[in-house]
Amino acid sequence: MQCPYCDFSITTEPVKQNDQKLAHAIAQDLEDSAALIDGREFSSVYFGGGTPSLASAEAIAIILDAVKQNPLSKEMEITFEMNPRDVSANKLSDLSALGINRYSLGVQSYNDPELKGLGRNHDKASGIEATNLLKGMNSTIDLIYGTEYQTATSFQETLEQFIDSQTNHLSLYQLTIEPNTIFYKKELKLPNEDQIEGMERLARQMLESNGYQQYEVSSWSRPGFESRHNLNYWQFGDFLGLGPGAHSKITVGPEITRFRKIKPLNGYIAKQTIADHTIIQGEELDMDLAMNLLRIKDGILPDHLGVELPKSFLKKYQLGVKEGLLLEDKIGATARGYQYLNETIKLFF
Ligand SMILES: C[S@@+](CC[C@H](N)C(=O)[O-])C[C@H]1O[C@@H](n2cnc3c(N)ncnc32)[C@H](O)[C@@H]1O
Repeated sequence: MQCPYCDFSITTEPVKQNDQKLAHAIAQDLEDSAALIDGREFSSVYFGGGTPSLASAEAIAIILDAVKQNPLSKEMEITFEMNPRDVSANKLSDLSALGINRYSLGVQSYNDPELKGLGRNHDKASGIEATNLLKGMNSTIDLIYGTEYQTATSFQETLEQFIDSQTNHLSLYQLTIEPNTIFYKKELKLPNEDQIEGMERLARQMLESNGYQQYEVSSWSRPGFESRHNLNYWQFGDFLGLGPGAHSKITVGPEITRFRKIKPLNGYIAKQTIADHTIIQGEELDMDLAMNLLRIKDGILPDHLGVELPKSFLKKYQLGVKEGLLLEDKIGATARGYQYLNETIKLFF
């Protein structure tokens, strides 16, 4: 079953018969991407954007074997997204033996009415059990705020549970109502804007006083545990997406391209066709850069970026500096610019 708020490209077809076929298709897709990879080193791998924990360890091994045919960085970050219901000591030991060294747990909340409201197939008890099984491993937890049945108290209890678990990374998302989801059509009783702001203040105060730092709009970590994989997106590095509906951004010579793979599972298994291939340039590139780079909380030095900043971007950037929304010494937003980031990004539209 797909979560009623989720618009990710996922299949809810029974995966058991398909996982090895899909893994072979992904391995084939990777092999066929040699020209795009162009001998570059892989620094991270992320199994996610759905529930890869439904797949067998054999299927994951097929994909990782294909990855290992490429040059790899010595300190590869290999993250695996899991639904709490799929976490068991056996599963973790199988995955760790394959080289997975970071686990991302889709907890969403440690409160039963909220989890029911989110249509989740797990409850508070299984969330805690899964979190405990991950203790001592490098892991990250997903939580959502602004949901039905959530109060300041229930959110505080969820954050306390997270902090008690000593997990070193948190992705904290505000519920967004995406078109084409069940939540879009349903009338939901959600917390109002003041309550949402209260939750954000509470989260900041609790997380900061317990040693977590925000390094991106939705990302918090203990120092040194930032997600290398996600930082690469925001720093405008290249990435190769494999699997049905997977997105890629690849620079070939002077051209920056974004494309995705076709969505239907069986179609992808038969042929890993590219769809929606676009060259990102001009105004579109300025916006794309702003939407990624400005998410990094403390900003970034231009020479740490995966791209040379176009003159048109820098011109718009200077307007933001004048207005006190953007930093002068780095690429990034000031405290005020970050507080109203959506508005700040509009400078580049
Ligand atoms: C593809 S989901 C990962 C699902 C995870 N593997 C699981 O089954 O629990 C990635 C995360 O994005 C967040 N997310 C998805 N849809 C969202 C929405 N509409 N609003 C806010 N957060 C959302 C959730 O926290 C989710 O765990």
